[in-house]
Amino acid sequence: MDVKACIFDLDGVIVDTAKYHYLAWKRLAEELDINFTEEDNEELKGVSRMDSLDIILRKGKKEISQEKKEELAARKNEWYLEFVNEMKPGDELPGARHFLDTLKENNIKIGLGSSSKNAKLCLSLLDMTDYFDVIVDGTMITKAKPDPQIFLMGAEKLSERVENSIVFEDAIAGIESAQNGGFKVVGIGDAKILDKADIVRSSLAEVSLDELKSLNNPK
Ligand code: BG6
Ligand code: MG
Repeated sequence: MDVKACIFDLDGVIVDTAKYHYLAWKRLAEELDINFTEEDNEELKGVSRMDSLDIILRKGKKEISQEKKEELAARKNEWYLEFVNEMKPGDELPGARHFLDTLKENNIKIGLGSSSKNAKLCLSLLDMTDYFDVIVDGTMITKAKPDPQIFLMGAEKLSERVENSIVFEDAIAGIESAQNGGFKVVGIGDAKILDKADIVRSSLAEVSLDELKSLNNPK
């Protein structure tokens, strides 16, 4: 394919904040006396803050008021931000900065499609904001992944066609979101978990531009 734009999820693709989301949710779940494992956490990846809380509460069979939910979600976010605020340039995932440099050198547009309301803060702490021609984050979308809205909005803002754009995702919900929008998608993480992606690599350090160009070709 003619690769003209790459749209990246943030948490778990550019930076290992997926780990911090997990630790903060686990702390909250423990306070609520709900067992919450890393396997359970896969279901939360890519999902909005309130939807994530609902999944945990459902798992613990707990029903609580909207007001209490808001309070719990805010508390989780405070714990999450304690980790995030320690981040500095260099803390991005292996290969992320180098891959973005390669895209820039090849005049390929770069977009962000993150469900997180903290996405801009994370990019700024890593000093990576300037790589992105367009940022679509959790403050801008009305439909959460797996709805394709976030990536379609990204391609539109980049003025690129879906057929010429590739999405990079570490979450099952994110891969579905990209595919629902008609995008080719590179899974970043475990091939057993991300088996619906077109290709899966353990990190951006393992992705080459040439293999992206051959994504549409019959194998
Ligand atoms: C996604 C993460 O990127 O953002 C989810 O994969 C997270 O785990 C979601 O819940 C919302 O993030 P935030 O920072 O707005 O709570
Ligand atoms: Mg992610």
